[in-house]
Amino acid sequence: MNESSSLWGGRFSGETNDAVAALSRSIHFDWRLAKYDIAGTRAHILALTSAGYLTEAEQAKLDKALIELDKRVASGMFAAKPIDEDVHSALERGLIEMVGAELGGKVRAGRSRNDQIATLIRIYLLDQSKQLKAQVIELIEVLATLAETHLNDPMPGRTHFQHAQPVLLSHHLLAHAWPLVRNLNRIDDWKVRASFSPYGAGALAGTSLALDPAVVSTALGLTAPMANSIDATSSRDVVAEFAFIGTLIAIDLSRFAEEIIIWATAEFNYVKLADAFSTGSSIMPQKKNPDVAELTRGKTGRIIGDLTGLLATLKALPLAYNRDLQEDKEPVFDILDSLNLLLPAFTGMVATMEFNTQRMEELASAGYSLATDVAEWLVKQNVPFREAHEITGKLVSFAESKSLDLNEVSDLEFAAISKYLTPEVREVLSVTGSIKSRTGAGGTAVPRVLDQLSALRKLLSQTNG
Ligand code: ARG
Repeated sequence: MNESSSLWGGRFSGETNDAVAALSRSIHFDWRLAKYDIAGTRAHILALTSAGYLTEAEQAKLDKALIELDKRVASGMFAAKPIDEDVHSALERGLIEMVGAELGGKVRAGRSRNDQIATLIRIYLLDQSKQLKAQVIELIEVLATLAETHLNDPMPGRTHFQHAQPVLLSHHLLAHAWPLVRNLNRIDDWKVRASFSPYGAGALAGTSLALDPAVVSTALGLTAPMANSIDATSSRDVVAEFAFIGTLIAIDLSRFAEEIIIWATAEFNYVKLADAFSTGSSIMPQKKNPDVAELTRGKTGRIIGDLTGLLATLKALPLAYNRDLQEDKEPVFDILDSLNLLLPAFTGMVATMEFNTQRMEELASAGYSLATDVAEWLVKQNVPFREAHEITGKLVSFAESKSLDLNEVSDLEFAAISKYLTPEVREVLSVTGSIKSRTGAGGTAVPRVLDQLSALRKLLSQTNG
């Protein structure tokens, strides 16, 4: 190992055991942090220069080499080797190959891989959060457009998965958009906490070299250095919080995915999935499967596993840095990779889904879903709600026993059930009438759905990446 890019050979006389080297190695997953490591190093040499450890000429030479190294990393011309333990050692090797060991060997002063990695994971996630937000925004926009298209289309609203009250399809679709909006807000809130720089904390206790950590923090576009070097190197709450937000996004997709799977069945027949966003069966020629929705649901299970694994890794760690912390990266990378796979496919599936609005409308009044409307109509006739509930219950039970819909019950039968059930009650015994009456805040009446649509559109136009 010591002839390789190892950063710690001095006090060791023997070689590292191969199994130990294999266990320690993180290069196969932390290489994706390379460009962020280079950015960190470019910032660090500024701090070394202003403190007098590098001349301006040395700084310029190193910076030029680092910019070139960055290009070579991006093009694949410089790649990590299996002998490299991690991204930091691989890049130090690369820099030394370019500027020599004398100058290249000065760069590591005043920093440790502990403050380095804690900074890199932050700037990596901050960068990735932009793409994540953009993809979530795209899905919200698709939902808003669908809601506009289906503004007036009724469907059965459910509680306990039973028919409850008729609602508008637009209202239902927007109910999937709002949780995603809150996830965008969560990312913005998280950013504030993530934007502090651990650089300068060293291994755990800070540095004696009088480097100004604000130089690094500013160069990396972060808010300020962290206040406590022990905290800076040993906490990963910012990683866990990001993993949690990613998991919530997956959970929100998964809830909708579950509905789409059910909606696409012959029994429901609410939606038809586009050919490009469904798959066939190798044995059953007639099959069209909602694989995108199923993989969304399936990957969400895996993502939840990533989050819980990360939390378990953090739970019993004494201060300060422990090597366990190397295990923070794969779970959060897996969450991001999974979401980056899921979101475009899921959004495409939703955008191209065809709704059978006729079927949804036909079912909207099934299951006596207008019963609440009858009870509330009775309340408007001054019947106390308790009694109104009772009367309506009797009406439902009577209709059910005769296999009738509520509007098929005769005036005479109404009167026999209660004197308050006059023929005027028929006004509310329609799906359109029921939906139209739900004008309370956040309700399913068209004007309220239009309110939320414009609120949503306004929020989207104000959201920045
Ligand atoms: N690969 C390590 C990690 O991800 C980098 C820090 C290593 N520090 C150390 N003292 N061995 O946490």
